[in-house]
Amino acid sequence: MTPQKKVQEHGSFNPHNADDEHDYLLKNYARFPVEFIRGEGAYLYDNDGKEYLDFLSGIAVTGFGHNHPEIKSAVDNQLNQLWHVSNLFESGGQKTLASKLAERSGLDYVFFCNSGSEANEAAIKLTRKWGKERSHIITAIGGFHGRTMGSLSATAQFKVWNGFFPLTPGFIYAQYGDMDSIENSYGKDVAAVMIEPIQGENGIILPPDNFLKNLRDFCDEKNILLIFDEIQTGIGRTGKFFAFEHDNVKPDIVTLAKGIANGLPLGAAICSKKVGDVIKPGDHGSTFGGNPLAISSANKVVDLIDEKLLQHISDAGEKIVQSIISLNENSIKEVRAKGLMIGVEFNEKVSAKSVSAELLNNGVITCTAGENVLRLLPPYIITELEIIKFLHKFAEVLSIIKLGR
Ligand SMILES: Cc1ncc(COP(=O)(O)O)c(C=O)c1O
Repeated sequence: MTPQKKVQEHGSFNPHNADDEHDYLLKNYARFPVEFIRGEGAYLYDNDGKEYLDFLSGIAVTGFGHNHPEIKSAVDNQLNQLWHVSNLFESGGQKTLASKLAERSGLDYVFFCNSGSEANEAAIKLTRKWGKERSHIITAIGGFHGRTMGSLSATAQFKVWNGFFPLTPGFIYAQYGDMDSIENSYGKDVAAVMIEPIQGENGIILPPDNFLKNLRDFCDEKNILLIFDEIQTGIGRTGKFFAFEHDNVKPDIVTLAKGIANGLPLGAAICSKKVGDVIKPGDHGSTFGGNPLAISSANKVVDLIDEKLLQHISDAGEKIVQSIISLNENSIKEVRAKGLMIGVEFNEKVSAKSVSAELLNNGVITCTAGENVLRLLPPYIITELEIIKFLHKFAEVLSIIKLGR
């Protein structure tokens, strides 16, 4: 089967039938048969030298694109000095980054780990220690918090649980955006509500007006914690450093990962003083968490996110959304977005999977999410010209698909 054919059939592509019989990788991903070997700015290049416009950013990770000169130089400097010491010792880089994240969030303490799932595990442990006899956490149906057993149990999606029972106890599931459902889920064992300010994996689902504020009021009234999982929405993706800033609502814990180090593995759980003060040495830890290389990248990433860039993210997102809407395409049901976190939901006439696969064949990288939603997560450095290029390809691909090629 040609790579092009495999990409077209990705929806039903069975990785066990991959041409390479000597593929020893665990078959937990249905990978597109494309290998990128080089990146520059908003572009990736495969091993045949073909150019691809990256409208995925490694799923909201490489916000500054590939090979960004200032980030590269910061990591290069660190690479030449020191790669790893244990968290048994002081780390100036971690302290600097923690102070920047505390200032941006208005919170007080930062724990560094290596991924989003781990950041959420830390949030769950912080909640349990703080809550004492109260240990339950309310999460939202359709949300996504990760694949480790705790974060997977927080994720209210059967397809994520299937095959991995029993779940970690202590989670209660309520409807996203529905205060009545959240209030009905509350009981004396509940210590927190944990939620994505915008549901990413579920198809870019925006909260109803005032939902986050009402949640904050509810948590204050019940003296429980509000945890925002900003692993996908954080670090500027929505046009604010944290998505919660759009609603002027401050959580007790916020988790980050993905975009924080532009592709080096780093996660963070940031919490208020009242939560952080319950932790003592030995309660939690990570061998690699806050690794000097990842920290050097993240310190530069955070410095690069200024008001001008955030405005560009908002403007670029708005331009993409308005241009897609103005295509007047009758197979598009809805376009949902905040900044450069964009979901294009198709109706039954067109499958988002086939649009994503055909875009890849045409040199544009995207992915899908939720129910028939094409997910666009372009890098923050995206230019007007690259947006126009994307729109041309997008319109072309839609007409190819509708012609039933
Ligand atoms: C909102 C959210 N939380 C948690 C995670 C898990 O992050 P990781 O894959 O780094 O463990 C993701 C990943 O997609 C996410 O989008």
